[in-house]
Amino acid sequence: MINRREAVLVPVITAALILSACASGSGADTTPVLPPDQGLSVAGQTPPVPPLDADQVREGETIYGRYCSSCHRADLSGDPDWKTRNADGSLRPPPHDTTGHTWHHSDALLLSLTRDGSVFPESRMPSFGGTLTDAEIVSVLEFIKSSWGPEERAFQWQITWREQQATQE
Ligand code: HEC
Repeated sequence: MINRREAVLVPVITAALILSACASGSGADTTPVLPPDQGLSVAGQTPPVPPLDADQVREGETIYGRYCSSCHRADLSGDPDWKTRNADGSLRPPPHDTTGHTWHHSDALLLSLTRDGSVFPESRMPSFGGTLTDAEIVSVLEFIKSSWGPEERAFQWQITWREQQATQE
């Protein structure tokens, strides 16, 4: 029996692990930290994955084409050599499709990464807070999600939902 405190701590720790895995630049590791069914037994009753909004996806596609595709590619495949660092230690643009690890991150983390920029001092990922509204960034994320399969959607929704539960405590 998981007590309430542990139930709250697990997602927080999981989120921290995922963050540190990415922050250490382990781009080669595309295996999710927590398989979806394991998450289900911890979270209890994750609600169904919310459907994507077709209008937001369309708007997001346009914004993506204007602001993101130059680095992350129009087909979301990223730099073909994204697992290799540049000479200065910086990362190359990763894919946003199922081959990357964008889908390992919660909505809140994806929003803050895009709005405020990355935690890497040497990052080449621009911050879009001055260019795009939060709603526009959410639309881009909806467009990115539309390229994922049901498993990636379910995994990313679980991470998002559990983080929301933890922060509401
Ligand atoms: C100038 C190139 C460039 C542009 C333009 C760009 N990015 Fe990035 N992005 C990067 C790089 C490089 C990284 C790798 C992480 C880092 O260096 O901080 C990254 C990482 C990310 C990540 C984290 C992915 C992960 O798996 O951890 C997200 C999310 C992201 N970008 C979203 C966007 C969105 C959305 C846009 C358009 C609004 C965008 N990026 C435009 C270069 C770019």
